[in-house]
Amino acid sequence: MAPIDPHSFTDSTHPVTTHIALSLYLDFPSSTIHATALLSLSTPHTGPLSLDTRSLTIHSVLDPQSQAPIPFSLSSDHDPIRGRHLTLSLSNHSSFLVVYSTSPSSSALQWLSPPQTFNKTLPFVYTQCQSIHARSVFPCQDTPAARVTYTCLLNVPSSLSAVMSARHVTRRSPSESSPSHAPPPPHATWGAEGRAVEEFVMDQPIPTYLFAFAVGELGFREVGPRTRVYAEAAGPVLDEAAREFAGTEEMVQQGERLFGPYDWERFDLLVLPPSFPYGGMENPRMVFLTPTVIKGDASGAQVVAHELAHSWTGNLITNKTNDHFWLNEGFTTYAERRIVEAVQGEDRAALNIGIGWKGLNEEMERFKDNMEFTKLKTNQEGVDPDDVYSQVPYEKGFQFLWRIERQIGRPAFDEFLKKYINTFKFKSIDTETFLDFLKANVPGIEKDIDLELWTEGTGIPPDAYEPVSNIYTKIVSLANEFKLGRMPREDEVADWQGQEWELYLENLPKAVEASQILALDERYRLSESKDYEVKVAFLQLAISAKCRDYYGEVEKTLKSVGRMKYLRPLYTALVQGTGKEEEKILAKRVFAEARDCYHPIAQGVVESIFAKHL
Ligand code: BES
Ligand code: ZN
Repeated sequence: MAPIDPHSFTDSTHPVTTHIALSLYLDFPSSTIHATALLSLSTPHTGPLSLDTRSLTIHSVLDPQSQAPIPFSLSSDHDPIRGRHLTLSLSNHSSFLVVYSTSPSSSALQWLSPPQTFNKTLPFVYTQCQSIHARSVFPCQDTPAARVTYTCLLNVPSSLSAVMSARHVTRRSPSESSPSHAPPPPHATWGAEGRAVEEFVMDQPIPTYLFAFAVGELGFREVGPRTRVYAEAAGPVLDEAAREFAGTEEMVQQGERLFGPYDWERFDLLVLPPSFPYGGMENPRMVFLTPTVIKGDASGAQVVAHELAHSWTGNLITNKTNDHFWLNEGFTTYAERRIVEAVQGEDRAALNIGIGWKGLNEEMERFKDNMEFTKLKTNQEGVDPDDVYSQVPYEKGFQFLWRIERQIGRPAFDEFLKKYINTFKFKSIDTETFLDFLKANVPGIEKDIDLELWTEGTGIPPDAYEPVSNIYTKIVSLANEFKLGRMPREDEVADWQGQEWELYLENLPKAVEASQILALDERYRLSESKDYEVKVAFLQLAISAKCRDYYGEVEKTLKSVGRMKYLRPLYTALVQGTGKEEEKILAKRVFAEARDCYHPIAQGVVESIFAKHL
């Protein structure tokens, strides 16, 4: 066995899968998918072939031509990080058909019951596959080192419709045959009344973590020549989202100017229910977004800019394994801020850099006993990527690229970036490949910048840079004055939006008195902010100060959103440290009551926070 990725059973001596044809029958009452997956290999293979699975029941593996069974075994032990190892025994096969079912606990899938949706009468289901959850939807070599094309038939109740990170071909009756696809799964009533088949094709090779679908009562609005906004048709979200994301096409054009042609044809957006565990997910052709980004100011566009930027950095050039995750997120954070600067101006971009700088410094505190995860290039052997998800790859990665930009100047760096994208598009690369390319294209760079310290060292290098801009500096100095007892005056905050407050709150000392918290909120009503970034930053301070007046609001927040960016700091603030018995009891009760509304990935993350502190 020669693993190529610490998070996958994929074996370097086996051929890679190049194409996957899926037929998925979605059974809402049992929260199960009955499915077939036809996997094609780069070359015919004889002997064992390793695949990743998690929470899948494998019914059979067949030769697609003869239907003869192919021997297989599923490891009896379940690796807590990688799942179960499926080994097939092939005899000169270049393709094989796996007949399988998912289980209700499949970690990529969140099944929402009708009461958990806006329309209240129809269910909803969606996937989140990054980093290592695609294997809970279909068996695969679930490593970003390999890329596949795919086709997918989704058999759904005809009252629902489907979207995917792929081209929509058609919606039709299940009785129409589809010879070019995987056959229908035998455990399903494929052709039953009241069902529809949605057909999708993805003919650009992608890493498996970019596979995605959502099924529900969806509607859409056109907001640009290549952009529709999708959301649940019932409720106010669709119209609000269409307004919020009206400027998307301008950002796509800025992206093209900076990084080269947009290669994915469509750039559609899907706004998910509030339990979506991330701010955004860069699924190609169909970005997934939390509804909490819709707040009527510039910050929603920033998340879209980020996911759009992944179209070049992440989706075209992909990290080879999660050890090199900064190549995805650091580059994307840099690219996002260039887009934000182009459409919203330098001050807004500087504010984002400032919020990121603060976040990076806080992560150093979080990882002070585990400095490995303050490195850009990490060793994640035996580590669950969801547990060590942090701002480090984003913000230290950003700082590294910004440092290179300062060294060689923006015009040269822009040219370098375009060449980098062109050279490695549709490839998966590691940190060394990036450094070799950098040194070859910017001769002598290693004499000016300590590349090894930046990529392999812990902590924040001395030549990282805190941004300077008028608003940024003003806000940080106002936060410092609060420490001395001065509250900002109304005229000083008159034009503040969410991000200004966020930066202000993040720069307040962690040990403020409860009375100061109350006074600040009395004047500025931050605990009632519609902007979750502001509200959560405020509630975190309130918990640290044990200001119990706000525990009702904390509970309400934890029960109304599932975005981990909010769950993580609030649950952590409640359970970490000593002398917090009341807070710990509150955290446990709220989680017990809210757990079912969280995506399985978020459930796991909260459980691991509890395991660490309780
Ligand atoms: N790809 C990430 C989300 C992700 C990372 C999912 C790791 C699973 C594992 C996405 O592009 C992202 O970074 N989202 C941010 C947006 C923000 C930086 C604007 C988020 O969700 O907060
Ligand atoms: Zn990202």
